[in-house]
Amino acid sequence: MTRPIIFPLPGNEPMAERLGAALGWEIGVLETRNFPDGETYLRFATNPSDRAVVLVCTLDRPDDKSLRLLFAADAARDFGAASVGLVAPYLAYMRQDRRFQPGEAITSRTFARLLSSHVDWLVTVDPHLHRYASLDEVYDVPARAVRSAPLLSDWIRANVHRPFLLGPDVESEQWVSEVAGAIGAPWRVLRKTRYGDRNVEVAVPELAIFAGHTPVIVDDIVSSGRTMAVTADQMREQGLERPVLVAVHALFSEATYRGLKDRAAAVVSANSVVHPSNVIDLTAILANAVAKIMGDGLSTNSNKEANLE
Ligand code: R5P
Repeated sequence: MTRPIIFPLPGNEPMAERLGAALGWEIGVLETRNFPDGETYLRFATNPSDRAVVLVCTLDRPDDKSLRLLFAADAARDFGAASVGLVAPYLAYMRQDRRFQPGEAITSRTFARLLSSHVDWLVTVDPHLHRYASLDEVYDVPARAVRSAPLLSDWIRANVHRPFLLGPDVESEQWVSEVAGAIGAPWRVLRKTRYGDRNVEVAVPELAIFAGHTPVIVDDIVSSGRTMAVTADQMREQGLERPVLVAVHALFSEATYRGLKDRAAAVVSANSVVHPSNVIDLTAILANAVAKIMGDGLSTNSNKEANLE
Protein backbone atom coordinates (compact mmCIF):
# COMPACT_ATOMS: atom_id res chain seq x y z
CA MET A 1 0.00 0.00 0.00
CA THR A 2 1.44 3.37 -0.99
CA ARG A 3 1.89 5.55 2.07
CA PRO A 4 0.73 9.16 1.66
CA ILE A 5 2.92 12.06 2.65
CA ILE A 6 1.95 15.75 2.75
CA PHE A 7 4.37 18.48 1.66
CA PRO A 8 3.38 22.11 2.31
CA LEU A 9 4.63 24.79 -0.04
CA PRO A 10 5.74 27.93 1.84
CA GLY A 11 2.92 29.56 3.80
CA ASN A 12 0.80 26.41 3.73
CA GLU A 13 2.33 24.76 6.80
CA PRO A 14 -0.64 25.38 9.14
CA MET A 15 -3.18 23.88 6.72
CA ALA A 16 -0.83 20.97 5.95
CA GLU A 17 -0.39 20.27 9.68
CA ARG A 18 -4.15 20.29 10.23
CA LEU A 19 -4.72 18.00 7.23
CA GLY A 20 -1.97 15.69 8.46
CA ALA A 21 -3.59 15.52 11.89
CA ALA A 22 -7.06 14.90 10.40
CA LEU A 23 -5.83 12.16 8.08
CA GLY A 24 -3.12 10.66 10.28
CA TRP A 25 -0.53 11.23 7.57
CA GLU A 26 3.14 12.22 7.75
CA ILE A 27 4.21 15.77 6.95
CA GLY A 28 7.33 15.92 4.79
CA VAL A 29 9.86 18.71 4.58
CA LEU A 30 10.36 20.61 1.36
CA GLU A 31 13.12 23.18 1.55
CA THR A 32 12.85 26.11 -0.77
CA ARG A 33 14.25 29.59 -1.05
CA ASN A 34 15.18 32.11 -3.70
CA PHE A 35 18.67 32.48 -5.09
CA PRO A 36 20.01 36.05 -5.06
CA ASP A 37 18.86 36.42 -8.67
CA GLY A 38 15.31 35.43 -7.75
CA GLU A 39 15.31 31.92 -9.16
CA THR A 40 13.86 29.12 -7.02
CA TYR A 41 15.92 26.56 -5.08
CA LEU A 42 14.01 23.47 -4.03
CA ARG A 43 15.03 20.33 -2.12
CA PHE A 44 12.99 17.39 -0.79
CA ALA A 45 14.45 16.95 2.69
CA THR A 46 12.04 14.02 3.16
CA ASN A 47 12.26 11.41 0.43
CA PRO A 48 9.05 11.25 -1.68
CA SER A 49 10.14 8.06 -3.46
CA ASP A 50 7.33 5.46 -3.70
CA ARG A 51 5.04 7.71 -1.66
CA ALA A 52 1.63 9.14 -2.58
CA VAL A 53 2.66 12.79 -2.45
CA VAL A 54 0.12 15.46 -1.51
CA LEU A 55 1.29 19.01 -2.16
CA VAL A 56 -0.57 21.74 -0.26
CA CYS A 57 -0.44 25.09 -1.99
CA THR A 58 -3.20 27.64 -1.96
CA LEU A 59 -3.02 29.80 -5.06
CA ASP A 60 -3.76 33.38 -4.12
CA ARG A 61 -1.13 35.64 -5.73
CA PRO A 62 -0.59 32.68 -8.07
CA ASP A 63 2.10 34.06 -10.33
CA ASP A 64 4.59 33.99 -7.46
CA LYS A 65 3.62 30.50 -6.34
CA SER A 66 2.85 28.48 -9.43
CA LEU A 67 6.36 27.93 -10.73
CA ARG A 68 7.58 26.70 -7.33
CA LEU A 69 4.59 24.36 -7.21
CA LEU A 70 5.30 22.95 -10.66
CA PHE A 71 8.98 22.46 -9.76
CA ALA A 72 7.93 20.58 -6.62
CA ALA A 73 5.50 18.33 -8.52
CA ASP A 74 8.08 17.61 -11.20
CA ALA A 75 10.87 16.91 -8.70
CA ALA A 76 8.61 14.58 -6.66
CA ARG A 77 8.01 12.55 -9.81
CA ASP A 78 11.70 12.62 -10.63
CA PHE A 79 12.37 11.04 -7.20
CA GLY A 80 9.88 8.28 -7.96
CA ALA A 81 6.74 9.44 -6.14
CA ALA A 82 3.93 6.96 -6.74
CA SER A 83 1.52 9.83 -7.37
CA VAL A 84 1.41 13.59 -6.95
CA GLY A 85 -1.80 15.32 -5.89
CA LEU A 86 -2.53 18.94 -5.13
CA VAL A 87 -4.65 20.51 -2.42
CA ALA A 88 -5.17 24.11 -3.49
CA PRO A 89 -7.81 25.50 -1.08
CA TYR A 90 -8.03 28.55 -3.34
CA LEU A 91 -7.71 27.81 -7.05
CA ALA A 92 -6.57 30.77 -9.10
CA TYR A 93 -7.35 31.80 -12.66
CA MET A 94 -10.95 30.63 -12.76
CA ARG A 95 -12.52 34.01 -13.49
CA GLN A 96 -11.05 34.63 -16.95
CA ASP A 97 -13.27 31.97 -18.46
CA ARG A 98 -13.97 33.67 -21.77
CA ARG A 99 -12.77 36.55 -23.93
CA PHE A 100 -14.51 39.63 -22.58
CA GLN A 101 -12.55 41.79 -25.04
CA PRO A 102 -11.08 40.78 -28.41
CA GLY A 103 -7.56 39.43 -28.08
CA GLU A 104 -7.78 38.46 -24.41
CA ALA A 105 -6.12 35.26 -23.20
CA ILE A 106 -8.45 32.69 -21.61
CA THR A 107 -6.04 32.15 -18.74
CA SER A 108 -8.33 29.69 -16.94
CA ARG A 109 -7.71 27.16 -19.70
CA THR A 110 -3.97 27.73 -19.91
CA PHE A 111 -3.55 27.51 -16.13
CA ALA A 112 -5.65 24.33 -15.98
CA ARG A 113 -3.58 22.71 -18.73
CA LEU A 114 -0.39 23.61 -16.89
CA LEU A 115 -1.53 22.16 -13.57
CA SER A 116 -3.11 19.11 -15.21
CA SER A 117 0.17 18.23 -16.84
CA HIS A 118 2.01 18.18 -13.47
CA VAL A 119 -0.37 16.66 -10.91
CA ASP A 120 -2.50 13.51 -10.87
CA TRP A 121 -5.46 15.02 -9.04
CA LEU A 122 -6.66 18.25 -7.53
CA VAL A 123 -8.83 19.19 -4.57
CA THR A 124 -10.04 22.74 -4.05
CA VAL A 125 -12.82 24.71 -2.37
CA ASP A 126 -15.55 26.58 -4.25
CA PRO A 127 -13.69 27.37 -7.45
CA HIS A 128 -15.23 30.27 -9.35
CA LEU A 129 -17.46 28.19 -11.62
CA HIS A 130 -19.54 30.59 -13.61
CA ARG A 131 -19.47 29.85 -17.30
CA TYR A 132 -17.84 26.43 -16.68
CA ALA A 133 -20.29 23.95 -15.19
CA SER A 134 -17.53 21.98 -13.49
CA LEU A 135 -13.76 21.74 -13.18
CA ASP A 136 -13.84 18.79 -15.59
CA GLU A 137 -14.48 21.24 -18.42
CA VAL A 138 -10.97 22.63 -18.02
CA TYR A 139 -8.97 20.18 -15.89
CA ASP A 140 -7.79 16.93 -17.47
CA VAL A 141 -7.10 15.22 -14.13
CA PRO A 142 -9.65 14.17 -11.47
CA ALA A 143 -10.62 17.42 -9.75
CA ARG A 144 -12.89 17.68 -6.73
CA ALA A 145 -14.53 20.98 -5.77
CA VAL A 146 -15.48 20.98 -2.11
CA ARG A 147 -18.40 23.20 -1.12
CA SER A 148 -17.96 25.48 1.86
CA ALA A 149 -21.68 26.32 2.10
CA PRO A 150 -22.47 24.00 5.05
CA LEU A 151 -19.69 25.60 7.08
CA LEU A 152 -20.79 29.13 6.17
CA SER A 153 -24.33 28.20 7.21
CA ASP A 154 -23.11 26.85 10.55
CA TRP A 155 -21.18 30.03 11.25
CA ILE A 156 -24.07 32.33 10.34
CA ARG A 157 -26.55 30.25 12.34
CA ALA A 158 -24.33 30.45 15.41
CA ASN A 159 -23.33 34.10 15.13
CA VAL A 160 -25.92 36.20 13.33
CA HIS A 161 -29.29 37.30 14.72
CA ARG A 162 -32.16 36.96 12.21
CA PRO A 163 -29.97 36.85 9.10
CA PHE A 164 -31.13 37.62 5.60
CA LEU A 165 -28.63 36.80 2.90
CA LEU A 166 -27.55 38.80 -0.11
CA GLY A 167 -25.45 37.68 -3.04
CA PRO A 168 -23.97 40.62 -4.93
CA ASP A 169 -24.27 39.11 -8.41
CA VAL A 170 -25.80 36.25 -10.36
CA GLU A 171 -22.74 34.05 -9.91
CA SER A 172 -23.22 34.17 -6.16
CA GLU A 173 -26.67 32.58 -6.34
CA GLN A 174 -25.13 29.10 -6.13
CA TRP A 175 -23.55 29.88 -2.73
CA VAL A 176 -26.17 32.17 -1.30
CA SER A 177 -29.14 29.92 -2.04
CA GLU A 178 -27.42 26.90 -0.50
CA VAL A 179 -26.20 28.76 2.59
CA ALA A 180 -29.57 30.43 3.18
CA GLY A 181 -31.50 27.21 2.50
CA ALA A 182 -29.60 25.36 5.21
CA ILE A 183 -30.57 27.90 7.87
CA GLY A 184 -34.01 28.74 6.54
CA ALA A 185 -33.10 32.39 6.01
CA PRO A 186 -34.55 34.65 3.30
CA TRP A 187 -32.17 35.61 0.51
CA ARG A 188 -31.85 37.78 -2.57
CA VAL A 189 -29.36 38.00 -5.41
CA LEU A 190 -28.42 41.48 -6.62
CA ARG A 191 -27.32 42.73 -10.03
CA LYS A 192 -23.71 43.82 -10.39
CA THR A 193 -22.18 45.71 -13.28
CA ARG A 194 -18.41 45.79 -13.45
CA TYR A 195 -16.81 48.71 -15.28
CA GLY A 196 -13.22 47.96 -14.30
CA ASP A 197 -11.04 46.04 -11.83
CA ARG A 198 -12.02 48.44 -9.01
CA ASN A 199 -15.18 49.97 -10.37
CA VAL A 200 -18.47 48.16 -9.80
CA GLU A 201 -22.10 49.11 -9.39
CA VAL A 202 -24.56 46.91 -7.52
CA ALA A 203 -28.29 47.47 -8.02
CA VAL A 204 -30.10 46.78 -4.75
CA PRO A 205 -33.91 46.60 -4.67
CA GLU A 206 -35.98 48.04 -1.82
CA LEU A 207 -35.21 45.86 1.21
CA ALA A 208 -37.46 47.51 3.82
CA ILE A 209 -39.28 44.21 4.43
CA PHE A 210 -36.06 42.97 6.03
CA ALA A 211 -35.90 45.72 8.65
CA GLY A 212 -34.97 44.08 11.95
CA HIS A 213 -32.95 41.37 10.19
CA THR A 214 -29.17 41.41 9.87
CA PRO A 215 -27.99 41.63 6.25
CA VAL A 216 -25.32 39.02 5.48
CA ILE A 217 -23.51 39.57 2.19
CA VAL A 218 -21.94 36.33 0.93
CA ASP A 219 -19.43 36.16 -1.91
CA ASP A 220 -16.94 33.54 -3.03
CA ILE A 221 -14.03 35.93 -3.60
CA VAL A 222 -13.22 39.31 -2.09
CA SER A 223 -10.34 40.89 -3.94
CA SER A 224 -10.39 44.69 -4.34
CA GLY A 225 -13.32 44.63 -1.90
CA ARG A 226 -15.35 47.01 -4.08
CA THR A 227 -18.22 44.54 -4.55
CA MET A 228 -18.64 44.14 -0.78
CA ALA A 229 -18.07 47.84 -0.06
CA VAL A 230 -20.60 49.09 -2.60
CA THR A 231 -23.21 46.57 -1.46
CA ALA A 232 -22.61 47.36 2.22
CA ASP A 233 -22.99 51.09 1.53
CA GLN A 234 -26.41 50.45 0.10
CA MET A 235 -27.52 48.76 3.34
CA ARG A 236 -26.69 51.98 5.19
CA GLU A 237 -28.49 54.10 2.58
CA GLN A 238 -31.61 51.99 3.11
CA GLY A 239 -31.35 52.39 6.91
CA LEU A 240 -30.74 48.68 7.48
CA GLU A 241 -28.50 47.11 10.14
CA ARG A 242 -24.77 47.10 9.50
CA PRO A 243 -24.14 43.99 7.41
CA VAL A 244 -22.01 40.96 8.14
CA LEU A 245 -19.65 40.28 5.23
CA VAL A 246 -18.78 36.64 4.55
CA ALA A 247 -16.15 35.59 2.01
CA VAL A 248 -14.94 32.14 1.09
CA HIS A 249 -11.61 33.28 -0.36
CA ALA A 250 -10.09 36.34 1.31
CA LEU A 251 -7.80 37.84 -1.32
CA PHE A 252 -8.08 41.38 0.02
CA SER A 253 -5.36 43.57 1.47
CA GLU A 254 -5.04 44.88 5.03
CA ALA A 255 -6.15 48.35 3.89
CA THR A 256 -9.23 46.92 2.19
CA TYR A 257 -9.96 44.87 5.30
CA ARG A 258 -9.92 48.03 7.42
CA GLY A 259 -12.22 49.79 4.95
CA LEU A 260 -14.70 46.90 5.01
CA LYS A 261 -14.66 46.65 8.80
CA ASP A 262 -15.62 50.34 8.98
CA ARG A 263 -18.77 49.53 6.99
CA ALA A 264 -19.74 46.22 8.57
CA ALA A 265 -20.75 44.58 11.82
CA ALA A 266 -18.19 41.85 11.02
CA VAL A 267 -15.98 40.72 8.13
CA VAL A 268 -15.26 37.00 8.14
CA SER A 269 -13.78 34.41 5.81
CA ALA A 270 -12.92 30.75 5.45
CA ASN A 271 -9.26 29.81 5.74
CA SER A 272 -8.53 28.86 2.13
CA VAL A 273 -6.18 31.85 2.16
CA VAL A 274 -4.43 32.83 5.38
CA HIS A 275 -5.97 36.16 6.40
CA PRO A 276 -6.81 37.98 9.65
CA SER A 277 -10.53 37.61 8.84
CA ASN A 278 -10.35 33.78 8.90
CA VAL A 279 -12.92 32.21 11.23
CA ILE A 280 -14.28 29.25 9.24
CA ASP A 281 -12.03 26.21 9.15
CA LEU A 282 -12.09 24.15 5.95
CA THR A 283 -9.77 21.38 7.16
CA ALA A 284 -12.38 18.68 7.76
CA ILE A 285 -14.07 19.01 4.36
CA LEU A 286 -10.71 19.16 2.59
CA ALA A 287 -9.45 16.09 4.45
CA ASN A 288 -12.53 14.13 3.47
CA ALA A 289 -12.18 15.13 -0.16
CA VAL A 290 -8.49 14.21 -0.25
CA ALA A 291 -9.17 10.83 1.33
CA LYS A 292 -11.91 10.17 -1.22
CA ILE A 293 -9.98 11.22 -4.29
CA MET A 294 -7.00 9.10 -3.25
CA GLY A 295 -9.39 6.20 -2.74
CA ASP A 296 -7.81 2.79 -2.79
CA GLY A 297 -4.32 4.07 -2.18
CA LEU A 298 -5.18 4.74 1.48
CA SER A 299 -4.68 2.45 4.42
CA THR A 300 -7.75 1.43 6.45
CA ASN A 301 -6.55 3.43 9.46
CA SER A 302 -6.18 6.58 7.39
CA ASN A 303 -9.69 6.15 6.04
CA LYS A 304 -11.07 5.87 9.54
CA GLU A 305 -9.22 8.92 10.74
CA ALA A 306 -10.46 10.90 7.76
CA ASN A 307 -14.03 10.25 8.97
CA LEU A 308 -15.26 9.47 5.47
CA GLU A 309 -18.85 10.39 4.75
C1 R5P B 1 -16.77 37.82 -9.23
O1 R5P B 1 -17.38 37.36 -10.09
C2 R5P B 1 -16.62 37.23 -7.86
O2 R5P B 1 -17.67 36.39 -7.52
C3 R5P B 1 -16.47 38.34 -6.84
O3 R5P B 1 -17.70 39.04 -6.74
C4 R5P B 1 -15.39 39.29 -7.23
O4 R5P B 1 -14.21 38.60 -7.48
C5 R5P B 1 -15.17 40.33 -6.14
O5 R5P B 1 -14.16 41.18 -6.57
P1 R5P B 1 -13.86 42.55 -5.87
O6 R5P B 1 -13.65 42.28 -4.40
O7 R5P B 1 -12.60 43.03 -6.54
O8 R5P B 1 -15.02 43.46 -6.11
